[in-house]
Formats: sequence, structure tokens, C-alpha cells
Amino acid sequence: MGEEFNDLAIVWGHIVAFLDSAVLKWALDLGIADIIQRHGGPTTVSQLSSSLPMPAGNSDNLRRLMCYLVDMGLLSSQAEDLYWLTLAMKFVLSGEAKSLVPFARLTQQGDHNNCLELGPLLEEKGSKSTFKALNGEDLWSYAAKHAEFNKLFNEAMASNARIVMPALIDGCRDVFQGNTSLVDIGGGTGTTLRAIAKAFPFIKCSVLDLPHVIETIPNYPEVEQVELLTSPNFLHI
Ligand SMILES: C[S@@+](CC[C@H](N)C(=O)[O-])C[C@H]1O[C@@H](n2cnc3c(N)ncnc32)[C@H](O)[C@@H]1O
Repeated sequence: MGEEFNDLAIVWGHIVAFLDSAVLKWALDLGIADIIQRHGGPTTVSQLSSSLPMPAGNSDNLRRLMCYLVDMGLLSSQAEDLYWLTLAMKFVLSGEAKSLVPFARLTQQGDHNNCLELGPLLEEKGSKSTFKALNGEDLWSYAAKHAEFNKLFNEAMASNARIVMPALIDGCRDVFQGNTSLVDIGGGTGTTLRAIAKAFPFIKCSVLDLPHVIETIPNYPEVEQVELLTSPNFLHI
């Protein structure tokens, strides 16, 4: 078979790629990272299982899950049956400032995650938006009508901004020096701009977004909030 094995490995990689996302979801559902963090040191499967709603002595599947998380680079296994968080897993601790849990949850819930349905995509003529083809309306109209989804989407965007903005500000100070105003069009709940306004108080910052997004922002004096009342489809999602 020789060379063919490489090709076979590529195809198998794609066939089972969904498992990484599924295992991450299960780990979040079980709160594995949070439990190990609270434990405060390398944790055995039986210590972990005692914090989970599962029968004692029934931990084989949990052990498999832990091994898979090691393989994904989210846990390290320091000795047999002892698991600890890698630096990557620390980004999926809940309640931390640098947490991508909201983004993971957005991609894991149904409204955003039905892209395996091909039929509607083929039926929709000339559509630029897969979300619209699958849900009957674009993502922004959908978010305007579904408060929980709106909250989840906005928090997912903000979670990424909270992580990248400190590095972006530190690495790109020159880009901001000399500017007196900045408008973030489609800037969500203004997390990016609040970080910029804090670092460069001489820049007048304005976030512009759709009403259902702006309405959810607490009043931060450092960032002007502007509701876009008409909705040109400049962002196709
Ligand atoms: C992918 S999110 C990005 C949010 C933010 N810029 C960030 O990076 O975290 C795109 C944003 O564009 C907003 N948006 C979509 N259509 C818009 C429009 N016509 N006018 C203003 N904002 C719009 C959405 O409500 C959403 O907050």
C-alpha cells in the first residue's frame, strides 16, 4: 500500500475530525477542566469521577475521554492515571477572564451548528449566507429575535476580544498613536474598543452595531454607542 497509507490517513483524519469538537463539548459539559483546577494538582480518574454524577467504579469511559484529551493537547498525563491541565486547556476554564468557553458553546449549540444539512444550501439560489439558507433568515435577524442566542453570540465575540486585545495593544502601540477617533463598525458589545479606550484615553471611541446588540451594552462612558437603524447586508454570515 505504501504511499496510499498517507492518503488513507488524510481521509480518516477528516472522517473523525468531528470527534475533537465532540470530546471538547463533553469535557465542558462535565466541567473536567474546572474540577481539576479546583483540585489544585494532578488528578486521578477516580478523584475526578467522585466529583461527577456517575456510579463509583464505572470510570472506563471517563478514562478514555481523559486519554483523548491528552492526545488533543488539552491535558497532560504526568504519570499513569494522573492528569493535569495544559496551558491550552486553561483557555477553557469557566469564569476566567481569558476563557473561550462562550465561543466553544456558540459553535456547539444547534442554531449555529446545523451545517451538515446540505439540501437547503443547494436549493437557495445565489445565497451568500449558509446560515440564511439553513435557518430561513440571516444570522443578525435571527439574533434580534432570539435573546439567548444574541447573548451567547455577543459573549462569544467578546471572549475572543478579551484574550487578543492586550497582546494587540502591546504589539501595535504605534498604530494607535496619533489617532484622535476610532469607529468600530460591527464592533459587537464594544470589548475591543473598551480595551483601546483604556490604553489610549486620547482616542474618542465609538462602537456601531445593530440595535439588538447595542441595547445589551451597559453604559460605558469611554465608548460612545451607536445603533445602526437600517441594516445593509454588508456582513454575510
Ligand atoms: C462577527 S461579529 C464581530 C464582532 C466584533 N467586531 C468582534 O470581533 O468581536 C459581527 C458583528 O457585526 C454586527 N453587524 C452585522 N450586520 C451589521 C450591520 N448592518 N450594521 C452594523 N453591525 C452589523 C453583528 O451584530 C456583530 O456584532
